[in-house]
Amino acid sequence: MSKSTMDQDLLKVLFSEEQIKARVQELGDELFERFKDSNPLFVGVLKGCFLFMADLIRACQIKSEIEFIAVSSYGNDYTSSGNVQITRDLQHDITGRDLIVVEDILDSGNTLYFLTQYFKAKGARSVTIVTLLDKPARREKPITADLVGFETPDEFVVGYGLDFKQQYRNVPYIGVMRPELYQ
Ligand code: PRP
Repeated sequence: MSKSTMDQDLLKVLFSEEQIKARVQELGDELFERFKDSNPLFVGVLKGCFLFMADLIRACQIKSEIEFIAVSSYGNDYTSSGNVQITRDLQHDITGRDLIVVEDILDSGNTLYFLTQYFKAKGARSVTIVTLLDKPARREKPITADLVGFETPDEFVVGYGLDFKQQYRNVPYIGVMRPELYQ
């Protein structure tokens, strides 16, 4: 495989492709056990979730449906504004549904705190949060995920869906940005 020009912008690999694949399968197995007798609705939070969502639903072979919602609270900033805006809403009724909300990262918690309340207000029967990365050091809201791929230090991580100024989402592993590129 040819070396990516993006690799040189990254300080180090935090989680390799192999580590991610193995952990996603474990999460899929856990979801299978929890939801094999129900018909859950996977709800991906765009855009960051798109690769994780695609891999997770294939790692969890249960009858289910998928939906997406898009929100924004960061713009191009490093810190959350705290003001969560829905930029693309759900397309179907979620009344009485068991939701599996799929996120790439739980950081300040503003996004998932808002969305959990939103989904419950819309009539969801249950909300299970699955996040690939959890950065507890940055939490501002009282929210925890039900399933976490990896706990992550307070570093600027990109790749596998996560961006810096909308780029690097297609890096196949999770890496740390070189500070000189964003400071
Ligand atoms: C990122 C990420 C989560 C959110 C987590 O989304 O995908 O949705 O931030 O941060 P929080 O816990 O501090 O709310 P972002 O707004 O950057 O949009 P994106 O998914 O399109 O990259």
